[in-house]
Amino acid sequence: MDKILVRGGKPLRGSIPISGAKNATLPAMAASLLTSDRVHLTNIPHLRDVTTMVELLGQHGCGITIDEKLGVEVDGAGVNNCRAPYDLVRTMRASILVMGPLLARHGHAEISLPGGCAIGSRPVDIHLSGLEKMGATIELSGGYIRASAKRLRGAIIPMNLVTVTGTENLMMAASLAQGQTILENAAREPEVVDLANCLNRMGARISGAGSSTITIDGVDTLHGCTHAILPDRIETGTFMVAGAITGGDVTLTGADPETLTDPIIRLRECGVGIDTGPDWIRVRGPSRPVAIDLETQPYPGFPTDLQAQMMVLMTLAPGDSRIVETIFENRFMHVSELQRLGADIRIAGNTAYVRGVDHLLGAPVMATDLRASASLVLAGLVARGETLLSRVYHIDRGYERIEEKFLALGANIQRLSN
Ligand code: EPU
Repeated sequence: MDKILVRGGKPLRGSIPISGAKNATLPAMAASLLTSDRVHLTNIPHLRDVTTMVELLGQHGCGITIDEKLGVEVDGAGVNNCRAPYDLVRTMRASILVMGPLLARHGHAEISLPGGCAIGSRPVDIHLSGLEKMGATIELSGGYIRASAKRLRGAIIPMNLVTVTGTENLMMAASLAQGQTILENAAREPEVVDLANCLNRMGARISGAGSSTITIDGVDTLHGCTHAILPDRIETGTFMVAGAITGGDVTLTGADPETLTDPIIRLRECGVGIDTGPDWIRVRGPSRPVAIDLETQPYPGFPTDLQAQMMVLMTLAPGDSRIVETIFENRFMHVSELQRLGADIRIAGNTAYVRGVDHLLGAPVMATDLRASASLVLAGLVARGETLLSRVYHIDRGYERIEEKFLALGANIQRLSN
């Protein structure tokens, strides 16, 4: 199993390109199940989760062509199997995204229940009750969700909490339903907007994506399209924190600052210098960051997927900061690892109290989930001495060539394969 070895203390300098967004790629690939035409997606990141989605679509019967220019073409003409097996779903919860499209186009779907994961129990009840409102019959047996419907019907679907993949699943299903669907309290994330744009290119009639009410007028069929995936705002934010924490000067190209409004405000409050252009962000780190309080919220609030990275910055900010995680109940797995590096953090319920220390000291640490692992690499970049991160496969799920990008910025980092 690969490990990443970081020797900390070098300010990062230079420029790197941002990849396409993982969390927009996965739903757009699932959306290709809604048509028998070819869907051509560009700006696809090279990630393990994308490979898992390729495998999943392949076993449903899709033809898949991957080109050298970060493109994937999915041909949904041959879909002959509507079952998403446990072995794939357990490695990637986002597999649930095939449920809405399979049900809407093929009348049934059999998806392994995702179960718990490192960051919490993460139920899918809102996906299921939304599909039921559209007329689907749902049964749970043998660890599988069995959903069936002759043709889904439009419905008004109020969602009791904001769910990103729930909104995406229902939006895809409603695209081929009979009549109008209104999603209330919908997720407003840029990845939801990107999916709506992709679906509209396929002939769907979706309006309001990006607001909390999305209206979908169902159509009888969808067709193929070409769609470029938006830049990954979480990768961008991770490298912004890296530039900030090392007192560096880092420019991120092919980024979308508009999707990072709140993180940019918060980083500026920490004393980080940030300039932006239409598709780039330049970050200059302070000599010491300023402590701030932070609370994760659905978009446009501060993203839970950047909480762990910001916490690392706070471990070095003189004074006290309070970080409240409101989205997931168990997303502080990085805390005990950061403590091993000398961070002063106390947890009470969903709040982490961080007291800034003078420096972190390198140590062996273990990755627990994707974003937690990224935070440990950031900590390693600033810690004195060596940090050896094991279980790196978590990082490869969501960051494209992370060590190569850090190397290009002058970090002392290497992947150890055995
Ligand atoms: N929830 C329910 N019932 C549901 C659906 C969600 O109770 O039916 C709860 C969840 O347990 C959680 C909250 O609602 O407490 C929000 O979860 P959400 O459904 O929005 O999360 P998700 O769609 O499963 C996506 C991203 C996550 C990101 C969250 C929040 C994808 C593929 N995943 O997950 O990304 O953290 O939204 O923004 O889009 C990551 O990339 O590292 C990652 C975990």
